[in-house]
Amino acid sequence: MHDVLIIGSGVIGMSIARHLSQSQMDVAIVDRDVPGKHASYKAGGMLGAQNEFTEDTDLFRLALESRSLFPELCEALENETGIDIQYQSSGLIKVANRPEDVENLRQQYEFLSSMDPSVVELSDEDLIDLTHGHVTSSEMAIYIPNDGQINANHYTKALFKSLQQRNIHRYYQTEVHSIEHQNGYYEISTSNGQLHAKKVIVACGAWSSKLLEHYQLPREVVGVKGEVLLVEHDSLDLKETVFMTNGCYIVPKEPNRFLIGATSEFDNYSVGNTDQGVSWLHQYANERIPELAQGKVIKQWSGVRPYTDGELPIMDRIDDGLYVISGHYRNGILLSPVIGRDIANWLFTGVKPRNYESFNVSRRSNNEVYH
Ligand code: GLY
Repeated sequence: MHDVLIIGSGVIGMSIARHLSQSQMDVAIVDRDVPGKHASYKAGGMLGAQNEFTEDTDLFRLALESRSLFPELCEALENETGIDIQYQSSGLIKVANRPEDVENLRQQYEFLSSMDPSVVELSDEDLIDLTHGHVTSSEMAIYIPNDGQINANHYTKALFKSLQQRNIHRYYQTEVHSIEHQNGYYEISTSNGQLHAKKVIVACGAWSSKLLEHYQLPREVVGVKGEVLLVEHDSLDLKETVFMTNGCYIVPKEPNRFLIGATSEFDNYSVGNTDQGVSWLHQYANERIPELAQGKVIKQWSGVRPYTDGELPIMDRIDDGLYVISGHYRNGILLSPVIGRDIANWLFTGVKPRNYESFNVSRRSNNEVYH
């Protein structure tokens, strides 16, 4: 009998397991695959705590706090595993690439700059200066210097290695079929037999709702597929992430690589790239950074983000010892450090963090805004 069983070995599940391992609890993690196959590993790795938000909500504050945990986490994971997750704080340039997006970007700029004066609007000249002329001018551009990025692939591997070194039971290539509440514990039926745990955390991203179908939760998690390209370019000297309001972004990676993301296909769980997706990525990346057209595509892939109604994660206890921690949509990498810490504390103390009321399964998009 495990004290806690976590279903899903993405960055959210692994981060929770890593924090829980500091206790005497018997902790297990189960995944239908092996870590490094799905959304976590395939993410762009942007730490867009300001880029992704337009209102002062509990989620925004959680994102800011989580972003601030990365420098120390990067060092801790490197000491522990020898893997450098390549934390960078080179900032992010957000550009409105369609006239109809200017008003929204201006509103976001007003919100962000009122809280953080380092967020500035860029004139065409500023954009040329900042990016050494690599980024073409747009309808409007702002610079968010405190947003950063990591290498999501390395981060996933580092968490995986960290768990291997800790006292955590790991069941991989083990698909969970059902979760049954028994008298004071849960029985989990899997493709490799039965597991038993006093508490269960469902953290399997876009697949969370399918597993919990018979609970008929008021909000569900739906998969949104994203396609990505990795382009190598030997002489393109650009450090900042460039994010366009139509969702296309370019994230500079070590060495001489540029991750171009990402399409958004709702309710699509398929794997692999499509001609349409690849040409959309090339079109918008090359329009903003024309030199990328001379780069060489060295890899392409896709992943499935866990979307929820209102883009509000579900982080709630839905039964005596059954928790759902899912739906982090575009921000799973960013939020994973703070969520790992907070959910572990919730289980240690039995007290739900107060700001997590915003993420109850019954909440819709009425996330309370601070004024
Ligand atoms: N966070 C970027 C994306 O979901 O594509």
